Amino acid sequence: MCGIVGYVGSKVPGSVLVEGLKRLEYRGYDSAGVAIFDNGGIKICRCEGKIADLEKRLVDEHFDGSIGIGHTRWATHGRPSETNAHPHYYEGIAVVHNGIIENYLELKTMMIEEGGVFSSETDSEVLSHLIARSIRKGLSFEDAVRESISMVRGSYAIAVLCEKDPTRIIAARNESPLILGVGENENYVASDIPAILSHTRKMLFLDDGEIAVLDRDAYRIQTLDGEAVEREPKHISWDPIMAEKGGYKHFMLKEIFEQPRAIIDTLRGRIVEDTGDVFLDGVTLDEETLKRINRIYVIACGTSYYAGLVGKFMIEELSHIPVEVDLASEFRYRDPLADENSLIVLISQSGETADTLAAMRQGREKGAKLLSICNVVESTLARDCDHVLYTHAGPEIGVASTKAFTCQMTALLLLAMYLGRTRGDLEADRAKELMQHVVQVPGYVEDVLERAEEIREIAEFYADAADFLYLGRGINYPIALEGALKLKEISYIHAEGYPAGEMKHGPIALIDEVMPVVTLVPRDSVYEKILSNIEEVKARKGQVIAVAEDDDREIAERADHIIKVPHADTILTPFILVIPLQLFAYYVADFKGTDVDQPRNLAKSVTVE
Ligand code: M6R
Repeated sequence: MCGIVGYVGSKVPGSVLVEGLKRLEYRGYDSAGVAIFDNGGIKICRCEGKIADLEKRLVDEHFDGSIGIGHTRWATHGRPSETNAHPHYYEGIAVVHNGIIENYLELKTMMIEEGGVFSSETDSEVLSHLIARSIRKGLSFEDAVRESISMVRGSYAIAVLCEKDPTRIIAARNESPLILGVGENENYVASDIPAILSHTRKMLFLDDGEIAVLDRDAYRIQTLDGEAVEREPKHISWDPIMAEKGGYKHFMLKEIFEQPRAIIDTLRGRIVEDTGDVFLDGVTLDEETLKRINRIYVIACGTSYYAGLVGKFMIEELSHIPVEVDLASEFRYRDPLADENSLIVLISQSGETADTLAAMRQGREKGAKLLSICNVVESTLARDCDHVLYTHAGPEIGVASTKAFTCQMTALLLLAMYLGRTRGDLEADRAKELMQHVVQVPGYVEDVLERAEEIREIAEFYADAADFLYLGRGINYPIALEGALKLKEISYIHAEGYPAGEMKHGPIALIDEVMPVVTLVPRDSVYEKILSNIEEVKARKGQVIAVAEDDDREIAERADHIIKVPHADTILTPFILVIPLQLFAYYVADFKGTDVDQPRNLAKSVTVE
């Protein structure tokens, strides 16, 4: 989510680091910093804001060393500020970190009891403290990093400097990408290819559980157990623009493919797989208050609103609290019946959508409890609500929301389980069983992504259609709405989402031989009903694209094209069924040659009414 770059060589490290960080800046980071050797010690320079601000500060700084690490931050734990910016320095150790340390509170408490003094609100700061602690015990730099990372749970890509060993950088990764760049008498480390592409095209990709030691004229890679890893560098032929997109043609496609990771990050540290328990950091509603809640209002706009519609099914099923879902632009101008026994859940990727903020103020006036589900840390919505549940999707650049949506559904599912367990409506056994399925969702999503080529071929077949109808039922009716929205946003093709049962009350009049109907067909309690809806379409010569489960044989004779997906517990099907619809919309738009990442007339964040 954040950006890392590190350099050891004979160039001016400040320039290499700032240049590398600038190449990552398009993702909208909120703060940045570098740590560079000077006069035998490590000097830190950090600031909130843009890399240009950091660059200005560096003009007046002098460093005599030729080794340094830099970082651009996209806040996850702790607001954007200078003290929360990386590198984090403690007793001769400087660390930059990407990822999430799940057990940081536990480790922080332990080290505070031992006399450690912390200066930030981040999870990352525990790393500099842990490594310094191991060095104090007499371990070498390398062993200190090894010991420290064996104590953390979660994801990390780190680069570390140590005043006692001032000629090298040590880097390590677990579930967060890290790359080594190999030069002539110089070496690099980075989280992303663009950061170092102008210096070298010889790169090595670290695997989980590996540590790299980078000196000026050598590098080596080891496993956590100290076993040497032999790996040849790869030649990267990407141009700089392609590199920014991780090799994908568009940010939207990259973000679609990031979803398994984004869902894992949103679940991370919040669930106990063995018991089905859920912990929601940032939500401090006590049990008594939760038991008094008699109605939940879910408020949002656009795609976030559709996530809210899915959330209604989840919350009502698992916690038995009635849920109303409202568009923020409607809620703000009506006089809702919300009161102090209502919980208002406001969903927004950006946290800056004007209508959603106005709805929040309306809810505040009613005395309701306010909880936001946001992707951007310290956004207005996140700050102004009483409680916040962050999605950890990472920066979303494509205007069409994809990974933010699946992470919003993930957060809503966690909230539903949390409410159900706390109020006693969700039995421990069901929670445990459900959690065992929840942890498989990223794998199911991965599985669907592997079928992208088949979806691309179907998209090519239909790319010239003028209108589309999307049908779904129950918890997947909002997925039909989201599929239609994705298609119209980026391909400019007219598309409508409908609950399948409503078709005969109007939209069936639209069906003829040139009308493709995308139908969601999971094997749930209304499976037979949706098969009948498909028959109704076929009887009027419509063309059916069915998204159906792998072992569904009945669908074959009814649909013109089938996109197969894995089977899942009904409550989890939206995560799986939305992926083909995102890919379908993307490929149709790409065939039409539209500006996929910045479709006409749309803004990523609608901050005006
Ligand atoms: O930042 P928000 O989640 O509040 O944004 C809400 C909508 O503007 C947004 O979801 C919009 O519909 C997207 N373009 C959908 O792809």
